[in-house]
Amino acid sequence: MNFRDAVVIEGIGKRYYTRHNEMIALADVSLTFHEHEFICLLGPSGCGKTTLLNLIAGFEKPTSGVIHAFGRPVVGPGPDRTVVFQEYALFPWLTVSENIQYGLKRLGVPKSKRQDVVSHYIDLIGLSGFAHKYPKQLSGGMRQRVALARALAVNPAVLLMDEPFAALDSFTRERMQDELVRIWQAERKAVVFVTHSIQEAITLADRIIVMSPCPGRVVEVLKIKDCRPRNLDASENIVIARLIRDILHMPTASHNPKISPNSFIEKSPELHIN
Ligand SMILES: Nc1ncnc2c1ncn2[C@@H]1O[C@H](COP(=O)(O)OP(=O)(O)OP(=O)(O)O)[C@@H](O)[C@H]1O
Ligand SMILES: [Mg+2]
Repeated sequence: MNFRDAVVIEGIGKRYYTRHNEMIALADVSLTFHEHEFICLLGPSGCGKTTLLNLIAGFEKPTSGVIHAFGRPVVGPGPDRTVVFQEYALFPWLTVSENIQYGLKRLGVPKSKRQDVVSHYIDLIGLSGFAHKYPKQLSGGMRQRVALARALAVNPAVLLMDEPFAALDSFTRERMQDELVRIWQAERKAVVFVTHSIQEAITLADRIIVMSPCPGRVVEVLKIKDCRPRNLDASENIVIARLIRDILHMPTASHNPKISPNSFIEKSPELHIN
């Protein structure tokens, strides 16, 4: 283990037991996420993306294996790993400012320092003038920006995001992806971002972890070398999308670019196929 590794996942398995059977949600997953790296967990419904995120967050315990975050074993949730969920998990009775400073207050950070942090993040998410509004007075995109600011305000080492933009319309979703890249470039956290969307993963990730169900496992790790902002219509990105569809045995678009994917993507040596 390297001290600059943000998250090290070693031989993780997760089983759920019901009265009549057991469900293998994850089988023997081993991965390392680096400091400042943007990781996307991509795969169809039921492949264990949320389960893996919850294990990293410390909301659940693995059946086998161990996870380390910055060298320390994950034994429960902590402010070093904050989560942004798909639904707008803001407190409706708190204002934007109060939502953003919620975690800091719980950590006992003094009011003047909290105000500085709130001002910084309200600026960063472009919601100046909205500090005293309540969540119901905001659009979906604005609420997700507040959720992001709240997660960042406690200065986590790793930001965990479970389909945070899935409920947004496609225009807002694309704008939020651009915003997230801008904020990630400014804050340089490690991000683990769950998505169903191949396009979203290619837009955002340094590396895409492709997962497959029954049992949930990692089937490919792809490094995206293209610089940001990325053009999804560029032939190299079309090829990557096609490669991922092939890996997942999904129907492939008719487009048939004549370039080798090897020239701009790299399969990670840590790939672990069961
Ligand atoms: N608490 C639970 N009890 C029993 N089975 C569970 C539980 N949580 C998840 N599972 C099962 O584990 C598997 C993985 O679920 P998970 O929610 O991690 O998938 P996912 O990739 O996030 O799917 P989606 O894209 O639909 O959110 C699924 O088959 C699911 O039914
Ligand atoms: Mg999920």
